Amino acid sequence: MTPEKFTLAILASGRGSNLQAIIDGIEKNSLQAEIGLVISDVKNAFALERAHNHGIECLFLDPKTFPDRKSYEQALVKHIQSKSINLICLAGFMRILGKHFIETFSNQIINIHPSLLPAFPGLNVQKRALEHGARFTGCTVHYVNEEVDSGPIILQAMVPILDDDDESSLSERILEQEHIIYPEAIRLIAEGKLTLSGRRVLHCK
Ligand code: GRF
Repeated sequence: MTPEKFTLAILASGRGSNLQAIIDGIEKNSLQAEIGLVISDVKNAFALERAHNHGIECLFLDPKTFPDRKSYEQALVKHIQSKSINLICLAGFMRILGKHFIETFSNQIINIHPSLLPAFPGLNVQKRALEHGARFTGCTVHYVNEEVDSGPIILQAMVPILDDDDESSLSERILEQEHIIYPEAIRLIAEGKLTLSGRRVLHCK
């Protein structure tokens, strides 16, 4: 780890395609940052393998070995604080983070969500957007606050819902956009291009 670089911690529970997009952005030099640590709450998460394959320090932190959510989050905080982390990126991390974690890293946690928030927060959102009959959906990168999927919005990309879409085809097209806007949002933060004004995230030129 080179101390002067903008350093990320990535928390992921699954396949880690967003993690991969961030790794690719760094390796292609379109994102001037480094990943200091990848943590997963799922032992066999493919995200851990991706990190390992790229020589990135990674850790499986087993929730079952902690008595409650608070102590699990305290351990997460301890591991993150042991590195000089500038930004925590949730990338398919399937746990809701509590007050202690969020207050410790105030305005330093971001998430990617596969809908155009504030529409369709929560789970199964591609299916819900289809069933609702929405004509457009997309993805959102936002700061994380104590309410699920409701922090200030950094970037969004819109994806049309086509007549022959099913959950899988729609999810795939949304994911393509996620892989573009997540590294881009990190780049904006790393370059100091964003300021918060209440709920609004202003983008400096
Ligand atoms: C993505 O759809 C992301 O928007 C959501 O969880 C999924 C994670 O996918 N929060 P991956 O593990 O990054 O491939």
